[in-house]
Amino acid sequence: MIPDTSSCLKWAVLLSQTSPEWLAKALADMDAVLLDHAHCEKKAAASAMSLVAGYSFHEELVRKMSALAIEELQHFRAVYERLVARGLSLGRDPGDPYAQKLIALARPREGRLTDRLLIFGLIEARSHERLALLAQNLKSPELARLYTELANAESRHAKLFVDLAHRYDDDAAVSRRVTELAQAEAAIVANLPVEPRVH
Ligand SMILES: [Fe+2]
Ligand SMILES: [Fe+2]
Repeated sequence: MIPDTSSCLKWAVLLSQTSPEWLAKALADMDAVLLDHAHCEKKAAASAMSLVAGYSFHEELVRKMSALAIEELQHFRAVYERLVARGLSLGRDPGDPYAQKLIALARPREGRLTDRLLIFGLIEARSHERLALLAQNLKSPELARLYTELANAESRHAKLFVDLAHRYDDDAAVSRRVTELAQAEAAIVANLPVEPRVH
């Protein structure tokens, strides 16, 4: 099923839409997108495990984040095999300014878990939006199939993170914070250069 790019907007996580300029640049350099994407999936697995390490006393979180880490590693492998098949080599991770700027917004003590969950949720939601755009516009049916599958998974993950934030914090506090962080996310996207990468 072709993913619906507006689905994450419906539950009010993302406050902006990716520009057509991004889609054109991404489609024109899928090698660069795949390389960045592989690093994103690898970091998504590592982030899930960092929550397991930091909050090992929360049983539900440990179960869900360890399952997520496995799934993100499967995504990494799928994207990695695709880039190797194209004659590319993964190479060093050049870093992700988008994610770094967002993660820097997490409060240091009180509210830290809520913030980390919501920030990871926003990253998943933005990934979902962009992977879905690629799925809808890629010429290669095989690559479009892969991106459809991954876009649908990232939408599910975005919801998982927001649901977990509500599980461990007050509903009103989470709703307030998700709006603040979504505003910050939209501003970060608007101020970053448009490049052929996932974020
Ligand atoms: Fe993923
Ligand atoms: Fe994900």
